Amino acid sequence: MLPARENFLIMLEARLKQQLQARKDAQAYRSRFIVDGPQGVELQCEGHKYLNFCSNDYLGLASHPAITRAFVEAANTYGVGSGAAHLVNGHSREHHALEEELAAFTGRERALLFSTGYMANMGVISALCAKGDLVLEDKLNHASLIDGALLSRADFQRFTHNDVEHAQQRLQKSSAELKLVVVDGIFSMDGDLAPLDKLSALCKKQHASLMVDDAHALACAGASGRGSCEIFNLTRDDVPILVGTLGKAFGTFGAFVAGSETLIESLIQFARTYVYTTALPPAVAAATRASLRLVQEENWRREKLTSNIRLFREQSAREGWALLPSESAIQPLILGDEAKALEVSKKLRERGIWVSAIRPPTVPKGSARLRITLSAAHEQTHILRLLEALRESL
Ligand SMILES: Cc1ncc(COP(=O)(O)O)c(C=O)c1O
Repeated sequence: MLPARENFLIMLEARLKQQLQARKDAQAYRSRFIVDGPQGVELQCEGHKYLNFCSNDYLGLASHPAITRAFVEAANTYGVGSGAAHLVNGHSREHHALEEELAAFTGRERALLFSTGYMANMGVISALCAKGDLVLEDKLNHASLIDGALLSRADFQRFTHNDVEHAQQRLQKSSAELKLVVVDGIFSMDGDLAPLDKLSALCKKQHASLMVDDAHALACAGASGRGSCEIFNLTRDDVPILVGTLGKAFGTFGAFVAGSETLIESLIQFARTYVYTTALPPAVAAATRASLRLVQEENWRREKLTSNIRLFREQSAREGWALLPSESAIQPLILGDEAKALEVSKKLRERGIWVSAIRPPTVPKGSARLRITLSAAHEQTHILRLLEALRESL
């Protein structure tokens, strides 16, 4: 008989091996590739060069020289590490200036930086809601929004994707005093827009608050990059809690929440993922300030992205491929079966094109897909090469 501790470790290893095998059997096993060099249209990976159609660098800013320069200059001034949490002594002038600029950009009273979007979503929902409250989310919301609701211990309910009537029924049935409706502005795996105009009207009617995670829309959607609120012409009264991430179209890293003075002060006091974590490196904040300037000055990036999206959709429709109703940089091609999605992704890679296969549990069973993402940095010739490779691989 083994001693109890060793026994436990053997049992744990056995259980983990079983879970890993089950994941392999379901064609859902995930692995990493090692990238050498910057994010861009061309990606260097494990000795090969690929045309990149799966990063979230929608405006082509992740390796922009002016942003890199701002990063290096700030690192020379501040060093690398922020040293502590914002509430200890990690809150630098670069962080503070970025918060003020993001508040102005989004037209909100204040903004607050978080170290990642995952932490922002977990922190906001769990700080604002508690047992007895209702958190109502779209079924296709990002994992961080779901985890935030679970962490809050509120009554957590979901409504059918983009089904405002279903959301209304759920709100009407709830007797909770505080109701928070939470949606992605643009859905991360489907690329479609939430019906924010209808949801904000519903929330007003039902005395609920609306929180929008605009990770895939801010900077790259809306004529001036102000995201899904701009598309629907919605104000801060319509969407009082706005989350943005900085690691996607802004091309850097981190996230922020924008809203009223009271909201932001409450998050500073009560959002545990804000209070109990190290602040972003100040150089990342400085780089994001440079990025925010480009986002506001260079409309051509959004225009080029829009024309790339149009070209891809028109040509795909001609091929008879069933694209989802997405006008965004995210253009998924549903293949259904996990094995099929992996096979097509591999064939594309053999043709020098990188598009990742997205499988359950990230997306619902039976909807494994290629998540094709377009960028302002793509030229028409790149998109034509992607279309050609898809023709040969599907
Ligand atoms: C909609 C959405 N929200 C939040 C996040 C998390 O942001 P971050 O990568 O900064 O943690 C992501 C993806 O990463 C996302 O797609």
